[in-house]
Amino acid sequence: MANKVVLAYSGGLDTSVAIRWLNETYGLETIALTIDVGAEKDISVVAEKARAIGALKAVTVDARQDFLQYFVWPALQANALYEGVYPLATALARPLIAKLLVDVARQEGAIAVAHGFTGKGNDQVRFDVSIMALAPDLKIIAPVREWKMTRDAEIEYAAAHGIPVAATSASPYSVDANLWGRSVEAGVLEDPWAEPPADVWDWTANPDAASEPTELTISFEQGVPVALDGEALDPVTLVQRLNALAGAQGIGRIDMIENRLVGIKSREVYEAPAATTLLAAHKAIESLTLSRDQSRVKEGLASEYARLIYNGQWYTALHADLLAFIHSSQRFVTGEARLKLYRGQATVVGRRAPHSLYQHALATYDRGDAFNHDAALGFIALWGLPVKTQAQTQLLAGQPGAQAMAQLTGGAPIAAPSAPATPATPTEQPLAEASAH
Ligand code: ARG
Repeated sequence: MANKVVLAYSGGLDTSVAIRWLNETYGLETIALTIDVGAEKDISVVAEKARAIGALKAVTVDARQDFLQYFVWPALQANALYEGVYPLATALARPLIAKLLVDVARQEGAIAVAHGFTGKGNDQVRFDVSIMALAPDLKIIAPVREWKMTRDAEIEYAAAHGIPVAATSASPYSVDANLWGRSVEAGVLEDPWAEPPADVWDWTANPDAASEPTELTISFEQGVPVALDGEALDPVTLVQRLNALAGAQGIGRIDMIENRLVGIKSREVYEAPAATTLLAAHKAIESLTLSRDQSRVKEGLASEYARLIYNGQWYTALHADLLAFIHSSQRFVTGEARLKLYRGQATVVGRRAPHSLYQHALATYDRGDAFNHDAALGFIALWGLPVKTQAQTQLLAGQPGAQAMAQLTGGAPIAAPSAPATPATPTEQPLAEASAH
């Protein structure tokens, strides 16, 4: 019997052609694996197509819940945004798909896995590197990277092999979608100066069109969203509902030039209504429940974590280390955020948490103020001590020193202009009168 390969099968032209190509080129029988991560495709229809084209077997997996629980939630808990902007939907799904490919390859005794990514993107890297980590013995075949067929050549190949090509109105874009977002590239988007035309948007309404704001409360437990408006929801339903609610308000449209791992800049447009809304709500709960220092350290790790996800390093010890920090940091990130969704913005208008560090008695300017104002004096004396010492011994001392201080005020004169040469000994010179609050 022929050796087997497990192919990550989407039902599109590339992977459909790949089923026959793998057989002709490598003599392999294909097991087509179609995974539902929320792309809104009927995976049973896709599997049927794989069988019709000649796959030995077609396997489907509904991985939506696992995708959210084990891949998306940690990224949300970390507030991970690649280059501060992209919530990483596509990148997060890759290590999950790689793992499922390996699982099926083991079950079926396959010698190889295959995917339809090109030789130019991040996805091939994420995929291959994940497979190399999980199953170094499996051969990795990337037909599209190897065959170097143009799209027209592929269509010819399909026709010659009786492979049905959906005669769709051929979208000019390359699209990838899952519950955490939709990624769109190519076509006119390759001109970074060109505004994304209306037809790139599918999940989000025109932000200017909404007439009424949507008010919404999102509940979190240990950094994970669990309810909308007090109604407990499973992760998949919660994210689907939020994509619809926030999408209707035009929230989560992202247009960015990003730095790909393979060294090129590319223009990608994203729609991430649920992700954008949940990130805002999650940060609101953290603002009450994390200390200043936890927040600061966590903020630095958020960009590290985003980069690690983007760069395909999911199955690494560094990931395990970061994840331990992220999980530990979320112990008290329980509470509710109140949001107003309106015209493209998810605005947090209220937040509360049972373990909130916000103390009204400490914060208030009204009666009941428990903050020790006298202690502030001592605090300022010591906090300012090194500043004052340095100003006197260095910045205000002598001519070059006075210039150094002047630089810090944008050149505004601090010392009296016609003062005689300043003595070498430091003198106390008042800066401008501070306006105290
Ligand atoms: N640039 C994104 C990433 O690397 C998305 C890649 C897939 N995009 C697409 N339109 N097919 O994660």
